[in-house]
Amino acid sequence: AIQELLSAPLNGQRLVVTAGGTREPIDPVRFIGNRSSGKMGIEIARAAAQSGYQVDLIVGQIEVNLPKSERIHITKVETTEEMFRVVDQAFVGADGLIMAAAVADYKVDHPADQKIKKTSATSTLSVDLTQGPDILATMGAKKQASQFVVGFAAETDHLDDHAQAKLSRKHADMIVGNNVTQVGSGFGTDTNQVTIYQPNQAPQQWKQMSKTAVAKNLIQFIQELR
Ligand code: CTP
Ligand code: CA
Repeated sequence: AIQELLSAPLNGQRLVVTAGGTREPIDPVRFIGNRSSGKMGIEIARAAAQSGYQVDLIVGQIEVNLPKSERIHITKVETTEEMFRVVDQAFVGADGLIMAAAVADYKVDHPADQKIKKTSATSTLSVDLTQGPDILATMGAKKQASQFVVGFAAETDHLDDHAQAKLSRKHADMIVGNNVTQVGSGFGTDTNQVTIYQPNQAPQQWKQMSKTAVAKNLIQFIQELR
């Protein structure tokens, strides 16, 4: 809070930040989820608020405490569809979007109203899945010239190729890539080693540092670009 007092509000500049994983229900007691802890996104929201931004933080499932700040407005969501609707509204008039959330790519076609029981008749169970909306790609495609969108790419292999493909496919101004198989760079860790991808620029590999430091550097880097 003291740090926030030191930094003046940036002329009411507002960032939309997402954190954590979305969940897709299979039935009332089960879901499809992912390993995101939400740490990176929460740290980004904190760093943005400390630099004077107003922050709309949209969180799915997280394993860390939510930040408490007058500058951070929090909305909790469960599914990709819900996150899409909240981001879509918040992005109107915002200065930028940082999609740190791990968004479920597929949703269950017909979630059961009642708990699915296991039967002795068959040893297998199938659920049909359909792709949900791509939030970053949709916002990237409709952003105004004054708005910027930043995505993340957590990959196990071919980071450069996948991150560059996401940069163009999602019309993003920046992709923050990391290799999740690397020690100190995976899910739930306190540290991260990221590479910054921007259109028509050579990738910038940052040293491994705490997620808090990555978040601060990222916010500063974005401010310097603008
Ligand atoms: N993302 C999103 N909406 C989705 C899927 C992803 O907004 N439905 C965002 C993520 O928040 C992240 C970026 O897009 O900032 C890249 O996510 P990622 O899962 O790596 O990309 P996908 O396009 O889903 O590709 P894949 O999972 O096949 O690697
Ligand atoms: Ca995905």
